[in-house]
Amino acid sequence: MARMDSSSKSSADIAVVASDVDYAYGTDANPKPILRSVDLTLARGEFVILTGPSGAGKTTLMTLIGALRSVQKGSIKVLGTELARLPAAGQRDVRRRIGFIFQDHNLFDALTAFQTLRLAMELAEKRPSYDEALSRAGDLMAALGMEKHLHARPGELSTGQKQRVAIARALINDPSLILADEPTASLDQGSAGAVIDIIRDRIVRAGAAALMVTHDTRLFSVADRVVRMEDGRVVEPS
Ligand SMILES: Nc1ncnc2c1ncn2[C@@H]1O[C@H](COP(=O)(O)OP(=O)(O)OP(=O)(O)O)[C@@H](O)[C@H]1O
Ligand SMILES: [Mg+2]
Repeated sequence: MARMDSSSKSSADIAVVASDVDYAYGTDANPKPILRSVDLTLARGEFVILTGPSGAGKTTLMTLIGALRSVQKGSIKVLGTELARLPAAGQRDVRRRIGFIFQDHNLFDALTAFQTLRLAMELAEKRPSYDEALSRAGDLMAALGMEKHLHARPGELSTGQKQRVAIARALINDPSLILADEPTASLDQGSAGAVIDIIRDRIVRAGAAALMVTHDTRLFSVADRVVRMEDGRVVEPS
């Protein structure tokens, strides 16, 4: 799918273009350079795996693309919006169209899976009715093999089940871009494969793109491309 050379892509086909991105932590007086001249393009409908050693800068790049931190140098265009110098309100609009999945599920202890998903749906532009929310949440949880746990709180769920609720939360509003940082780290091989299938199904169906960080080489075959980072640089672009 969606394997195009960059010269044939129109801007409508492109989900993310990062060009010549540098990023440093620390202070202006004492910067700690991390990303160096990073270029990365994701087409719509494309599933790209980002890999590389610990400390290479993968999470830093993901959070920049997700408008969770500000661009310092270079350009990052996400779903048609340039993030460099974008005001906070514009950053929020971009974030709304992205489904985030992190290694740590970040669920609220007091909320059931359905309440978590309903809250996510209420933050979307078009709020569904209760019945519609229940039906959408039920369908997605079932697709994730979680139909029995729709009304369970995190304390009643295993690590892998909690992660699937977090994945459902990321997918419930049909995001145009999915950013997943080691989403399958707490899952066994079978559940990891099922999760990837769900993400892939959403991507193909909705024309969304996905960027997933993983160290698990067994998952590489499901990606359209594998991009490798080392020491703040992309060393293996497509
Ligand atoms: N908030 C921060 N302040 C200062 N340095 C940071 C911060 N976050 C990350 N770093 C440093 O930036 C570098 C890149 O970190 P990053 O988390 O992007 O790597 P990563 O490729 O995601 O690694 P891992 O595979 O371990 O998750 C590391 O040297 C890390 O110590
Ligand atoms: Mg990381």
